Amino acid sequence: MRQHLPVLCAETVAALLAVEGEQKTFIDATFGRGGHSQALLHGLAADARLIVIDRDPAAIAAAQALAETDDRVVVCHGAFSELTELLASVEVTQADGILLDIGVSSPQIDEADRGFSFQLDGPLDMRMDPTSGTSAADWLNTAEPDEISYVLRNLGEERFARRIARAIVAARPLHTTRSLAEVVSQAQPASRERGKHPATRSFQAIRMHVNDELGELATALRAAFEILRPGGRLAIITFHSLEDRLVKRAFRELSSPPQLPRRLPVRGDQQQPRGRLVGGPLRAGPRELADNPRARSATLRILERAQ
Ligand SMILES: C[S@@+](CC[C@H](N)C(=O)[O-])C[C@H]1O[C@@H](n2cnc3c(N)ncnc32)[C@H](O)[C@@H]1O
Repeated sequence: MRQHLPVLCAETVAALLAVEGEQKTFIDATFGRGGHSQALLHGLAADARLIVIDRDPAAIAAAQALAETDDRVVVCHGAFSELTELLASVEVTQADGILLDIGVSSPQIDEADRGFSFQLDGPLDMRMDPTSGTSAADWLNTAEPDEISYVLRNLGEERFARRIARAIVAARPLHTTRSLAEVVSQAQPASRERGKHPATRSFQAIRMHVNDELGELATALRAAFEILRPGGRLAIITFHSLEDRLVKRAFRELSSPPQLPRRLPVRGDQQQPRGRLVGGPLRAGPRELADNPRARSATLRILERAQ
């Protein structure tokens, strides 16, 4: 199994550790295998805390192993859309820095049993938390063709969404990743996009739907901003254009003066933006890309809370 290489790690950690003032409480809401967490821990004081969250039980097992060797680490299992509640359960109401490194980890893809990969045969699951929610098989075997087509087109930018959705419905019930990969591949013209597996877009779209990845991000982003103390920073790494657009728009709104009704008396501080963009979007450089091709679609954005 591949090791998960943390993407834009030095840049992310440097931005989070550049917060002015207190550096007591940091949150890694996407622990994965802890690449970013370990780099953050190197820079944190002995009395700081790092709360680590993941919805994947395998990631949580890795987090617990780290917590046994470092008592600054506090582990929470759950979805980051429930950030406020998860943090309340460990008595955290404010943070100096928060990281969201969106998407899946390399071990999730490489473990056939998790059902994420079109290259390995396994049960058609794709849930990051296999203990809750609906598996890819349950969804694909019951959804309306229009719903499947909508997901493939919107989350996967799949040109042949309608054809693929019809082929999936005709082949039901589907239970394995290999059978889905074959159905998806056969529904497309053989000549399409050399170099890219024909099931890439569909698998990505189905995974994003099954885990409600855009909904999770939209909710967590707002919750994370509210938890930051003034001067605290939120760093978000995305791997998909729809996710990056969502982050870009939310960051733009939070760093612009609020829209207030005209002619109402307002205090000066009510006219100030609540956040400040820290630099522009960051992408991996050639050296990182040579070691880690997964970094090619990554974008890091950073927002600082102003008040
Ligand atoms: C790209 S990996 C993070 C890798 C990590 N930064 C590292 O260096 O190892 C994303 C992780 O976030 C988790 N994740 C994705 N969506 C989540 C959500 N909505 N709530 C909690 N964890 C989530 C996944 O299970 C996965 O382990």
